[in-house]
Amino acid sequence: MAEAAVLGSTGQLGRQLLAVLGRRARGIGRAELDLADPGSIERALQRLRPRIVINTAAFNDVDGAERQRRQALAVNAEGPAELARVAQARGIRLVHFSTDYVFGGDGLKRPRRESDAPAPVNFYGYSKLLGEEAVLRSGAKALVLRVAHLYGGTSLSPGRASLVERFVERARAGQPLIITRGQYLNPTSVRDLAPAVLALLRREACGLYHLTGGGACPAGEFAREVCRLAGLRAKIQWVSRDSRPARRARYTPLENYRWGKEGLPPIPHWRSSLAEYLLSA
Ligand SMILES: NC(=O)c1ccc[n+]([C@@H]2O[C@H](COP(=O)([O-])OP(=O)(O)OC[C@H]3O[C@@H](n4cnc5c(N)ncnc54)[C@H](OP(=O)(O)O)[C@@H]3O)[C@@H](O)[C@H]2O)c1
Repeated sequence: MAEAAVLGSTGQLGRQLLAVLGRRARGIGRAELDLADPGSIERALQRLRPRIVINTAAFNDVDGAERQRRQALAVNAEGPAELARVAQARGIRLVHFSTDYVFGGDGLKRPRRESDAPAPVNFYGYSKLLGEEAVLRSGAKALVLRVAHLYGGTSLSPGRASLVERFVERARAGQPLIITRGQYLNPTSVRDLAPAVLALLRREACGLYHLTGGGACPAGEFAREVCRLAGLRAKIQWVSRDSRPARRARYTPLENYRWGKEGLPPIPHWRSSLAEYLLSA
């Protein structure tokens, strides 16, 4: 019996956590546990009896969530609520992931701390906020980690290439990288995230933490650095308005405030992590 069950085993973060945890963890795919099917949650956890459940699964299509609101709510809010209920009843430790997109509606231009009031600007962010709130008030021994702009691994989930992969692909094809003016990012390598999650688990940490790569940067600066490291010419097409179906806030970076306050070592800066990833590829 594996100690930990990792949901979202085909996802970018789930795969990285499984690689780091090795034999201590077992990946759980959607066929075995569908977050949109409450019955399958209870059945899977009853059968597997893990000590820890790490939920990296989510409905992550930000634009799709505007159209498929029912499914986004089922996977990002109701599923995690049921997962937390079962975890509480069975004494299972739960790690759940959320997003910087719970912020943005306040228009602030500073990295947000865990104590800042969320204000999502799109349905994806709203559904993730409902999910994290349900987990935190469930009474389960739960850790909720807000992360942002993940890269550094490969998702097997269709259409889920990371921003780095999408930039490289477009630049290689000679297409411009479309960047919204004033947009900031908080690039986070899953290679940094996985050991940080393990460190929090070892400390038996509970509650809400922001956990992102060091530093926030203008999206244009990140795009240029990706191209530079990949040896590609960066052609940027600046737009002043995002025409995608879901609204995006321009500034949602997170401050790893609680992480730092507890004396944990800073997560590496995005520049060094990006270089490590792209130069080792
Ligand atoms: N990627 C980012 O930039 C980013 C930014 C902020 C926050 N986050 C959060 O970080 C976490 C990990 O994200 P990620 O980028 O690693 O995800 P990802 O690569 O998009 O993978 C999502 C995973 O969720 C699974 N899934 C989707 N619907 C499901 C359902 N109904 N039941 C069970 N599994 C389901 C997918 O399985 P299938 O292969 O079967 O579809 C896949 O394994 C998520 O909570 C996400 O919201 C990510």
